[in-house]
Amino acid sequence: MSTAVESAPGGHESEAVSVAAERRWALIVIAIIALLVLMMVVTGLHWAAMPPSRVEVVDVKTLHVKGEFVESNLGTALAPDGKVTVRLIGQQYSFVPQCIVVPADMPVTFRATATDAIHGFVVGKTNANTMLVPGFVSTFTTTFHATGEQLMPCHEYCGTGHEAMWAHVQVLPPEEFLAKAHVGERLSCVPR
Ligand code: CUA
Repeated sequence: MSTAVESAPGGHESEAVSVAAERRWALIVIAIIALLVLMMVVTGLHWAAMPPSRVEVVDVKTLHVKGEFVESNLGTALAPDGKVTVRLIGQQYSFVPQCIVVPADMPVTFRATATDAIHGFVVGKTNANTMLVPGFVSTFTTTFHATGEQLMPCHEYCGTGHEAMWAHVQVLPPEEFLAKAHVGERLSCVPR
């Protein structure tokens, strides 16, 4: 700055030095900005070309009246080929169904979404764990090895009732599950 110029002998020389220094710093700043812009462009193109996971959307406004997530279709489904699929909804402040039945030692596919806010769930200490985002279908396949009852709490803060939002999961021995489940029906352990 000016103090350095005034105190240095030969004003013109020191001015040249300071101009050169400012130019150098300007170039460094331009290089940093160019690098940041380049990083944004490269990551943007990379994620656009390779999305983080398969994205499946669902219309929140018609969720309750038509399609896969109508109430009569929620719960556990056994397909003719033996595949087990659990469909559920998270909403403020409960899961539907409130009690889920799955077999042990068989792959179980979860398909779930949220109607109002971001929710999430984890089944006990298993790796069955996902977020539920309105407008998107969350899906994963897992196998439960231990039979018995597990708690399934909401693990994304979703409002004042968050801590009271949880469901039960009953993991049955495969033969007991197959005796209860019928192709075309939806199974749950919600008391009627
Ligand atoms: Cu739903 Cu927290």
